Amino acid sequence: MSEVKVEYRLLGSTGERVSAIGLGAWQFSDAWGVLEYQRAKEIIDEALRLGINLIDTAIVYGRGMSEKFVGQALQELRAREQVFIATKIPGEMLAEHDVYKAVEMSLRRLQTDHIDLMQVHWPPSWNNIPTCEYMRALERLVILGKIDYIGVSNFGPALLEEAQACLGREEIVSNQVRYNIVDREAEKEIIPYALANGMSILAWSPLAKGAVTGKYSLDNLPKFEDVRANDPLFLPENFSQLTPLLEKLREIAERRQKTMSQVALNWLLASYDNVIPIPGAKKREHVTDNAGAMGWRLSFEEWRELEALSRKIVVYRSLLIQ
Ligand SMILES: NC(=O)c1ccc[n+]([C@@H]2O[C@H](COP(=O)([O-])OP(=O)(O)OC[C@H]3O[C@@H](n4cnc5c(N)ncnc54)[C@H](OP(=O)(O)O)[C@@H]3O)[C@@H](O)[C@H]2O)c1
Repeated sequence: MSEVKVEYRLLGSTGERVSAIGLGAWQFSDAWGVLEYQRAKEIIDEALRLGINLIDTAIVYGRGMSEKFVGQALQELRAREQVFIATKIPGEMLAEHDVYKAVEMSLRRLQTDHIDLMQVHWPPSWNNIPTCEYMRALERLVILGKIDYIGVSNFGPALLEEAQACLGREEIVSNQVRYNIVDREAEKEIIPYALANGMSILAWSPLAKGAVTGKYSLDNLPKFEDVRANDPLFLPENFSQLTPLLEKLREIAERRQKTMSQVALNWLLASYDNVIPIPGAKKREHVTDNAGAMGWRLSFEEWRELEALSRKIVVYRSLLIQ
């Protein structure tokens, strides 16, 4: 295997250099099935070995288990200082008192005295918490030295702007949203807004939950025992539309001696210089493979061929209720 050449990108206006491919840690949960600490540690160890320095976790992943695994592994590997930890506080814990309590508990699970990036995982939907209440609580935590930077996730531009206006001195440095070569809704307004405002986009599900890795086909869809059971992309009516794109990914991968995952992630890196994909990994080999998306670029022609095929895909979420 050729040596990985890690690229780094600046996170928003922070001046922090994070690897252009991060590591998503939702996999350390029932949703994805990595429940054994040693396996999680191996995955993190491989990421560090390769130079990946951004790990994305969340309070809700495994109800604290993902944060715990990340914290324990970084302690045992003596690597806390070389890693930029991004975690998230869910939309249900955004009352001011909950924000302080939740962050205190995250710090404990992560075995650290500061969180590099605290993101609002999704906006509050049914608890009627004013935007400024949680944004000012987060800013207070920056002043208190418990959080270094504030980010959001799954926010549209209007809410993001409202959230930014609540802050006295801090800037929202990133928005984490679904973005992959199949689902490009974020290109419509979220990425342009981030570009115009110097923010990074952390791209979640950058491999479309495994759909573009080449190992799934209509005859071999993922076993519906994990989080994909509720993902409309894997319904045959939707998945069947991916065939031409998957064929092109395979063709380019073979020609360039890359894997399909590497080509799909490289397409995201090539598309925008403020996008940082955070693929999840269930084993060491996934991390090694995904890191190989860095250090090279698709040609313009290759990028365009993939762009044209991906544009034709229309994922119907309405099919979930038949
Ligand atoms: N902010 C949010 O609301 C939000 C939402 C979702 C995710 N996220 C974050 O984004 C991260 C990534 O998103 P995701 O987990 O939804 O999906 P993803 O990264 O698109 O897909 C991950 C899955 O693809 C497969 N895979 C990964 N690398 C592979 C490789 N090189 N070759 C073959 N298969 C590979 C693995 O599953 P199999 O081996 O089982 O196929 C893995 O669990 C999460 O870990 C989490 O940190 C955030």
